[in-house]
Amino acid sequence: MLYLERVSLVYGRGVPGERLALAEVSLAVGPGEHLGVSGPSGAGKSSLLLLAAGLYPPTSGRVRRPENTRVGLVLQEPEMALFAPTVREELAFAPRALGLEEAVVEEAIRASLVRVGLAEDLLDLDPLALPTAERRLVPIAAVLAGRPDLLFLDEPTAGLPVRARGRIITLVRSFPGTVMVASHDLDFLWRTCPRLVVLARGSLVADGRWREFIYRPEPLTEAGLVLPPVPAVLAGLIRRGWEIEEVGQDEETVARQILHGGPRRGGAG
Ligand SMILES: Nc1ncnc2c1ncn2[C@@H]1O[C@H](COP(=O)(O)OP(=O)(O)O)[C@@H](O)[C@H]1O
Ligand SMILES: [Mg+2]
Repeated sequence: MLYLERVSLVYGRGVPGERLALAEVSLAVGPGEHLGVSGPSGAGKSSLLLLAAGLYPPTSGRVRRPENTRVGLVLQEPEMALFAPTVREELAFAPRALGLEEAVVEEAIRASLVRVGLAEDLLDLDPLALPTAERRLVPIAAVLAGRPDLLFLDEPTAGLPVRARGRIITLVRSFPGTVMVASHDLDFLWRTCPRLVVLARGSLVADGRWREFIYRPEPLTEAGLVLPPVPAVLAGLIRRGWEIEEVGQDEETVARQILHGGPRRGGAG
């Protein structure tokens, strides 16, 4: 389990303009769980991720990660962190740091390329010279090549074209370890994370599964967020007396649920 225990974070403590970014946030994330973190701009999403990943310590409270876990962190605007002359070198960094043999490193590079849907002929190119979508996928592939158990992604879909966004959806869904994704893109979070927490002004204001947000979207709307289109259709059906056990994570699954679900007895539908 990953635990955040009454974690607070103050930027610039004691200097003018000090800023409380997180206020006593508590959270437990189970092994293999995929957790979405949303909230308006400035709510503390990035701060929460950076603390959970251990990039810096909280001002108060405690973060506990399981022992011997490999942490992978992809920052917002991850191109800023690209440093190697070729995609291959960029992707080789993390597996080499694990002390793997070169043949295994090569294997890890290829596997992570496939995971993000990048072609092998990009390996010898300069990552900074790639078109936006590919360039953005390189840091994600680089982090995956280090075989993290715990994956932290900060706004991974921001500014991405549809196809690259689709790649990220697929790779997050199929990632076997624990994932925490900060995003203002609720549609993306619905597709990738069965559980969602909402931050507002540094406080955790909601924590639940999509079914709960569909039955009671107030915590979202109060934070200035809206249900994504497909969950919103389910919410409309529920208002008309339908019942839903669990919320599917793509259109196909939800279509099947709508066909097989039904109005509750005595419902308004
Ligand atoms: N390095 C920093 N120094 C000072 N204040 C910061 C810093 N990073 C973020 N903040 C402030 O902390 C609050 C939370 O920011 P952030 O975690 O980036 O929110 P989000 O990712 O939800 O937009 C905001 O008020 C932001 O201005
Ligand atoms: Mg952010």
